[in-house]
Amino acid sequence: MAVALLVLKLCLVVESSLSPNDKIAWLPGQPLVGFQQFSGYVSVDDKKQKSLFYYFVEAEIDPASKPLVLWLNGGPGCSSLGVGAFSENGPFRPNGQVLVRNEYSWNREANMLYLETPVGVGFSYSTDTSSYVAVNDQVTARDNLVFLQRWLLKFPQYKHRDLFITGESYAGHYIPQLAKLMIEFSRKERLFNLKGVALGNPVLEFATDFNSRAEYFWSHGLISDSTYNLFTSACNYSRYVSEYYRSSVSPICSKVMSLVGRETSRFVDKYDVTLDVCIPSVLSQSKVISPQQLGERIDVCVEDETVNYLNRLDVQKAFHARLVGVRRWDVCSDVLDYDMLDVETPMISLVGSLIKSGIRVLVYSGDQDSVIPLTGSRTVVQRLANELGLNATVPYRVWFGGQQVGGWTQVYGDILSFATIRGASHEAPFSQPERSLVLFKSFLKGSPLPEVF
Ligand SMILES: *[C@@H]1O[C@H](CO)[C@@H](O)[C@H](O)[C@H]1NC(C)=O
Ligand SMILES: *[C@@H]1O[C@H](CO)[C@@H](O)[C@H](O)[C@H]1NC(C)=O
Repeated sequence: MAVALLVLKLCLVVESSLSPNDKIAWLPGQPLVGFQQFSGYVSVDDKKQKSLFYYFVEAEIDPASKPLVLWLNGGPGCSSLGVGAFSENGPFRPNGQVLVRNEYSWNREANMLYLETPVGVGFSYSTDTSSYVAVNDQVTARDNLVFLQRWLLKFPQYKHRDLFITGESYAGHYIPQLAKLMIEFSRKERLFNLKGVALGNPVLEFATDFNSRAEYFWSHGLISDSTYNLFTSACNYSRYVSEYYRSSVSPICSKVMSLVGRETSRFVDKYDVTLDVCIPSVLSQSKVISPQQLGERIDVCVEDETVNYLNRLDVQKAFHARLVGVRRWDVCSDVLDYDMLDVETPMISLVGSLIKSGIRVLVYSGDQDSVIPLTGSRTVVQRLANELGLNATVPYRVWFGGQQVGGWTQVYGDILSFATIRGASHEAPFSQPERSLVLFKSFLKGSPLPEVF
């Protein structure tokens, strides 16, 4: 009895130290759940009034024993709330007027923190609009670091907690750069207990990642032999992107890209070449859709649903969110002016330095993605393993999610892993939620993926 009382008392202390003003009482249309949710703002620059918006979902069971996981979407400029939390690995997905439970939510394994970053994304804002101009990787990493430092003041019981950073796409730039600043900060003050990073279909090495697109298109039958030849010799994709962001697209690249565009068709989702597109989004940005008519297990229109949901006033109120300087919440920001030439900066040696600091790294690929295809990521990881002199500790093999093959994996030096998720898109937890959760769980535990079922 004495023990029970003591536990109860401890729980109360923990409860009261949680940031009470940011606690979400109830999200409109949500089912009854047993975990706590919080959301609100953390100022990262008091002078320029830069405030980053977060959504924090505690673990479903025993949050005090579970790690803290930060999730970041890419873009640059897309929302971790709208994409990550509400379409991928959060506890709910919007469906008409209500929210339905995601059975494979990552808060089954961890306390999940979704951050809209940099300012200008989603509900994050600055009252000084010059803050939206010339934003780059360096500014973003610095703001993200300050966010985490100050967020931990609101949630002190998460200080020193095992911490992982996860995310996808352009977060392949955000995450290593934030992790580096955290490691540097840790030399001055013990605050973060960074254990590992997981990068999904990440942009890590511009040319390797972008140029794997041509072969991916060709091998999946999306382009003809002759266009494949042009796309690899006359103008490859890295050259096109490089010219595009310098506003100097050459006639040959323009010709090749229009051929590629015509053959691949805009009715194929480049983020999942096997998935149907959401017709309303493609054709008219129409907001009136009925998901039942699609007869799909996966709601490809979930993004439209999220836009509807997060633009409801009652929802914004429940989230303690404000729209500052923009009329509506958007999936990806159109006020943010990001320095796109940063995409060319290689991240690979930075990832190498994380590994040398003992940080576990997982690179995973939804294998239906043509935007950052698995082939490029696998090459990048293999090269990094060679450079670091890490030998394969788990040879290339299948892994299982349930009774089916969930994908393939290889581990180097028990610290650097590569894994594919079979049948998954660029947003892997969106199209393969069950397999993604298996992968996430084994990543957190630092154990190899299931070898048998
Ligand atoms: C892509 O094009 C650039 C510029 O023409 C060239 O330097 C590079 O080697 C090409 N890369 C590949 C993988 O073909
Ligand atoms: C990796 O394998 C090579 C060749 O078998 C061996 O010489 C080397 O010592 C191994 N490295 C490590 C770190 O185990």
